[in-house]
Amino acid sequence: MEAATGKAQERLEAELGELLERESFEPPEDFVAAALVGDQSLHEEAARDPSAWWAKLASELDWFSEPTEVLDDSNPPFFKWFADGTLNASVNCLDRHIAAGNGDRVAFHWHGEEGEEREITYADLFRDTQRLANVLKERGVGAGDVVGIYLPMIPEVAVAMLACARIGAPHNVVFGGFSPEAVKDRMEFSEAKALITTDEARRKGKTAQIKPAVDDFLGEVPSIETVIVVRNTGAEVPMTDGRDLFYDLAIEAAEAECEPAELEAEHPLYILYTSGSTAKPKGILHTTGGYLTGVAWTTRLVFDLKPDSDVFWCSADVGWVTGHSYIVYGPLMNGVTSVMYEGAPDYPDKDVWWELCERYGVTVFYTAPTAIRACMKWGAEYPARHDLSALRLLGTVGEPINPKAWLWYWKVIGRERCPIVDTWWQTETGHIMITTLPGAQATKPGSAGTPLPGIDAAVLDQHGNEVEGGQGLLALRKPWPGMLRTLYKEDDRYVETYFKKFGPGTYFVGDAARRDSDRYFWIIGRVDDVINVSGHRLSTAEVESAIVSHAKVAESAVIGQADEDTGQSICAFVTLEGDLEGTDELVAEIRERVALRIGKLARPKRVVWADDLPKTRSGKIMRRLLRDIAEGRELGDVTTLRDPQVVEELDEVVKRRASEGEEE
Ligand code: PRX
Repeated sequence: MEAATGKAQERLEAELGELLERESFEPPEDFVAAALVGDQSLHEEAARDPSAWWAKLASELDWFSEPTEVLDDSNPPFFKWFADGTLNASVNCLDRHIAAGNGDRVAFHWHGEEGEEREITYADLFRDTQRLANVLKERGVGAGDVVGIYLPMIPEVAVAMLACARIGAPHNVVFGGFSPEAVKDRMEFSEAKALITTDEARRKGKTAQIKPAVDDFLGEVPSIETVIVVRNTGAEVPMTDGRDLFYDLAIEAAEAECEPAELEAEHPLYILYTSGSTAKPKGILHTTGGYLTGVAWTTRLVFDLKPDSDVFWCSADVGWVTGHSYIVYGPLMNGVTSVMYEGAPDYPDKDVWWELCERYGVTVFYTAPTAIRACMKWGAEYPARHDLSALRLLGTVGEPINPKAWLWYWKVIGRERCPIVDTWWQTETGHIMITTLPGAQATKPGSAGTPLPGIDAAVLDQHGNEVEGGQGLLALRKPWPGMLRTLYKEDDRYVETYFKKFGPGTYFVGDAARRDSDRYFWIIGRVDDVINVSGHRLSTAEVESAIVSHAKVAESAVIGQADEDTGQSICAFVTLEGDLEGTDELVAEIRERVALRIGKLARPKRVVWADDLPKTRSGKIMRRLLRDIAEGRELGDVTTLRDPQVVEELDEVVKRRASEGEEE
C-alpha cells in the first residue's frame, strides 16, 4: 500500500514538473459556454465610461432612495460614493430574498468540528437578525455605536454582523485566533459599546474558555455596557448582572420585527483592525453603499456564481476581511448557498475539507495558498478519497501562490477541469481588485491576472512614473467604491499611510509587483514592515512590542523570513537585559508572551539572541541586513551602520547555529 502511494506520488511529481513548463491555462470550453462573462466586454465597457459602470453596478443594490451622484472627489483622498443614496446592508442580504420568495433557500450549510450539521436558511437569518437587532436597540445601541464581535466560526457570527448593519451600528469583528488582550485593544481603540462573544471556542477537539478570559479585561473598557454571550459549548460561565445576556434567551424574548435603519451610503458599515507598520493596528473603515456595490458584483462575476445551482465555500475565517466580504456580505447579497466550517483543515482528519466538498456538493471553492501547500504536503491521497466532481471553479487569496502549489491545486483538487482565480486584494480595498474573470481570461500560475473592470492598477517607481516590464510599487490610480474611507479616528494616519507617497489621487498599496507583456500582474510581496504568515497580516512593530514587554528583554527586531510552508515566518532577534543568557525556557516565555499579547499566530518561529542589533547612525534598525542574515544571503551594504562589527558577529552566530542544525 505504502509503495503504491509512493509510486503515485512520484508520478504526480513528474507530471507537475512537466506542467511547470506551461505558461498559461485557457478555461475549458464548457466552462466558458456557461460562464456569466465569456469575453472582455465588461473591461471595455468600464474603460469607456467608469462613472456609468459604477453607477450601473450600484443600481443593482436595493436602495431606499436611489443615488443620483456617483463619485464625489472634491476633498481627496476622502472620497464619497453614491452619497445621496440611502440603503441598508441587511436588507440587501436578507429582505430582498425573502421578498422574492427565497426564504427557504439555505444560506449556510454549517458543519461543526465534531460533525454536527445545521442548515441555516435565509428565513432563519432574517428572523434571528431582526431579533438580535432589537436586543441591541433595547440595550441602547444605535446608529454609529460600535459593536465588537469576538466569535468562532458559527452561524451566529453572521447574524451578529447583520444585526449591527440593520440598526446602523458599525461592527468591529476580531478574529477568534487573536488573544483577549488583542481584543481589549481593539475594543478600546473603537470605544465599543457592546460586545458579542461566546462561552467557549472549540479547536481541534479542545475547548478554550472565552467568556472568562474576556471578563478579565472588561473592567478596563468602560465603554462596553452590554455583553451578549452565545452558548456554543454550553459550559458554565460567569455572567454579570445588568451587563451580560445569553444570546439565545435574549433573542427569544425580543420583538420579532425590526425595521431596517435607512442609512446614507457613506454610513459606516464596519471597522476591521489590520496590521500596519507601527505597533498600533489600523482601524480600516468601510462604509455601506460603495462597499456593498464592490463586494456584490465581484462575488458574482469573479466566482461566476449562479444562486440556483452553486454551492460556494470560502474557507477563510469571518474575522478577516475575506470572511466579511466572501462569507457574509457577498454570498448573502447574491442569495447564494455557502458552506461554513467551524474547524481546522486537518481535524478530525486531513480529508475533512474534501469530505465537506463532497457532502454539500461544493461547486466553487476559495482558499489560501498556505492551505494548499499544507494539503500538498499531506498528500493527494486525502482528496482522492472523495468525489469532487461538483467542483467547477477554484480560487486563492492572501499571498502569492508558487506555481507548483497552483498546479497541484489545478490537478489534484480541480482534476484539470476547474479554472483557478488568483485574487489580489486587501482589507483596505474591500473586495477583489486584480484577478481573471474565469470564463473570459486565461490564467497563469503565479500571476493574479489583470485589474478588474473599473480598477486602475499600475506598477510605479519611487517617483510615481510607470515602470514598463520591471518591478516596482503597486498603486491604484483611481478611487473605487469599495475602498476604505479612512482609518477610524485617525484621518491623518490614513493620508500619511496611503496617499503621501504618490499624492491624494493615487493609493499606495504597500506591495511590490511587476507586469508582464500581456499586462498580467505578478505580486511579489510587501515593501513595508508587514509580515504575511499563512496569509495572516502582522506587523513587525506589533510583535516587537509584545516581545519587549517581557521583563528580561532589552530590545528586539522582528523580520519576516521566507518559509516554504507559510509563505513567511517570524524571526525575532532579541537582546536581553544586562548579562542575561538566552535559554530555551526564555524562548518559550517569549513565544508565550506574544501569544498572550497578540495571539498564537504571531509567535516567532525562530528566536536569535543578539548582543546588539545593527543600527544606522540615527539609531534605526536595519531590517534589510537582518533579513539577509536570517536567510543566509551575502550581506549587503553595511557602510551606513553605526557599528558594522555587530552585523558580522550576528551573521557568525546564525551561520554557526545553522551548521549545528539547531534551527527548527
Ligand atoms: O501583500 C498582499 C497580500 O496580502 C496583503 C493584504 O492582506 P490583508 O489586508 O490581510 O488581506 C488579505 C486578503 C484579501 C496584500 O497587500 N495578498 C493578498 N492577496 C494576494 C496577495 N499577494 C499575492 N497574491 C494575492 N492573490
